[in-house]
Amino acid sequence: MAMTTVFILLLATFGSAREYTDVEASSFPALFHLDDYERCLAKEDGVYCLGTFDLTPAQLPHTTYDLMKAYSDESYRHFNRTRIHRGYCLSERCSSATLAHFNTTLDLGDSPEQLFERCTNFYMQAENFHASIKSVDYCRTHSDIIEASERPPTSAELIFKNVVYALIIANIVGTIYDNISGDNLNKSKLLSAFSIPANWRRLTFIREGGDPRQAALVPMEGIRVMALGFTTYAHANVIHFMFHIKNPEYLEKLTQRLDGIYLSDGTSLIQAFVMMTCFLTGYNLLIYSQKQELGLYMLPLCIMKRLIRITPVHLLIVGFGATWWLNTRDGPLVSTTIGLESEACTTKFWSHVFLVNNIVDSDKYCVVPTWFLPVNMHMYILACAFTLLLWRRRCFAVRLYLVLFFASCLLNGFVAYMKDYRSMIYLATPEQIRRIFRDSSSFTEFYLSSWGALPACFIGLILAHIQFALNERKIKLSDYKWFVYLHYTTFPVLFVWALTGVYAREHSSSLFNAVYIAFDRPMFCIIMCVCLMGAFHIDGPIRKFYSWRGWRTMARMSLTVMMLHWCVDMTIANRSVAYGTSAIDMVVDWCATNLITYVIAVPITVLVEIPMQRFIEALIF
Ligand SMILES: *[C@@H]1O[C@H](CO)[C@@H](O)[C@H](O)[C@H]1NC(C)=O
Ligand SMILES: *[C@@H]1O[C@H](CO)[C@@H](O)[C@H](O)[C@H]1NC(C)=O
Ligand SMILES: *[C@@H]1O[C@H](CO)[C@@H](O)[C@H](O)[C@H]1NC(C)=O
Ligand SMILES: *[C@@H]1O[C@H](CO)[C@@H](O)[C@H](O)[C@H]1NC(C)=O
Repeated sequence: MAMTTVFILLLATFGSAREYTDVEASSFPALFHLDDYERCLAKEDGVYCLGTFDLTPAQLPHTTYDLMKAYSDESYRHFNRTRIHRGYCLSERCSSATLAHFNTTLDLGDSPEQLFERCTNFYMQAENFHASIKSVDYCRTHSDIIEASERPPTSAELIFKNVVYALIIANIVGTIYDNISGDNLNKSKLLSAFSIPANWRRLTFIREGGDPRQAALVPMEGIRVMALGFTTYAHANVIHFMFHIKNPEYLEKLTQRLDGIYLSDGTSLIQAFVMMTCFLTGYNLLIYSQKQELGLYMLPLCIMKRLIRITPVHLLIVGFGATWWLNTRDGPLVSTTIGLESEACTTKFWSHVFLVNNIVDSDKYCVVPTWFLPVNMHMYILACAFTLLLWRRRCFAVRLYLVLFFASCLLNGFVAYMKDYRSMIYLATPEQIRRIFRDSSSFTEFYLSSWGALPACFIGLILAHIQFALNERKIKLSDYKWFVYLHYTTFPVLFVWALTGVYAREHSSSLFNAVYIAFDRPMFCIIMCVCLMGAFHIDGPIRKFYSWRGWRTMARMSLTVMMLHWCVDMTIANRSVAYGTSAIDMVVDWCATNLITYVIAVPITVLVEIPMQRFIEALIF
């Protein structure tokens, strides 16, 4: 039944648009092409250029061009086929020897860029097109490559190298010191913070029992790891859009398919991460308030503790992004993908230090997922401040949060209406995804904004108060039949909710969009809350599954994984040829990314995150 409804919905959405056959699409000039990069530049006279060209018909009428134009005008689901992307080895492709085969000569022009345009134009003429240059990413010669390989390391690279050495030495010294001093109570906390065996135990140790109020939350770790897995899968898809793909038709179809809609709507999941952070913050503070009076004066301490936890790893990865990341691969697209982010990492380093990287230059991305850290931090501060202020008056607090929740939803909707911000489901067009939404203010100003996450934060706080009150009154929700049923239905409902995107796509009026923006992500968070509450209270299969010990170890590495997977995936997907893609290829990249990321995350967590946290805490407190 549900499937039929879905099917009808799908037909209703897409049945109206003209379908293009594969024959038609294959008559278009290839959207992407890359000549062999290494081979080209290995030759002494090698010249390689990468750029974008606009096609116009060389003579009229031109039926293929008209078809391409109509095809490209449907930009919500198609790449712009009149704008082609080329990486040409000029020294091979347009050398006079090659052109002699065609009985042609080309005026070489004054610069490689001019030759690049003429060369591309020459090849497009065969298909009756005129190609004019839109932008040149670079033209490189053999000597440029030699120069680059002999370039002395930049100061950023030197600093990063020394930081890595310092961390390794600290770990060696700390481990030896800790071993020698044994159980001596007087041993230096600063040095023994870097003990590898002790930190390894911290990563893998699973405490059973303990405070039952904390133990109830265990399944959340599993849910978080799975949600992170979904995020990395979505990114594995997005990343394929950024490279030169032989079958762009697959990517175009993906944006319209059901799984594509899940991927665009799944971006709400990030709000659920914020919600969980605020929930944990509120809940832990409320528990703490039974031991000690809380007050707003504790806020700086809370902020410090959190900064100490996230900053070392965050800066390490941003530092890596600014320096060594660029050297992990060599190929024609490295400088336009990794290089672009790497440059942002250098220029935006300080905004990362102060966690304002989603506000300053928000259209320049340095390791894309790092935008989440400032959002999470800002919401954390808010949750802390509210809880520290209102912990005595919990009833009043919940009412206030409810009001603030609705107010912030309406605020989001209102601002979206005024500034015409679109929700993700409309933004996810092939050309936009290809540029990771750089040119879209809906993404850089709304999606990445901290205020967009306000509703999620208030939901988290409300959930914390509910859970706390239930514990206090010793109410087990598993005693309530209706809740048990509700809990088991929320998992399917979570997936069905994402399907509202199918419906939303049909309606593009500003008002509908504003309402959708206001309530789509909060609603997702609310459903997620019911899931969480069920997992906390109902000792069923879902709780058992998510309480698996492995999840908990993985959850401890989630901070590193959240940022690092982007670097790993970009490096993996950065092949030096144009390649074909499919669901299988994406899954393969996703598996490889997860495997490598978790393997690297272990040393980062054990050698950097945990010891730095202990070290700085020993230093300050
Ligand atoms: C596609 O590219 C052409 C230039 O080749 C441009 O004029 C046109 O506006 C683009 N179409 C869309 C829908 O962006
Ligand atoms: C080039 O010119 C030669 C001699 O005029 C001719 O035999 C050959 O077929 C031409 N080749 C092409 C590709 O036009
Ligand atoms: C120090 O290392 C030795 C040899 O590996 C080991 O037997 C001993 O348990 C270690 N001591 C501590 C305190 O870790
Ligand atoms: C720790 O230091 C105190 C005073 O410096 C000393 O009395 C005590 O014996 C030391 N404890 C150990 C285990 O070395």
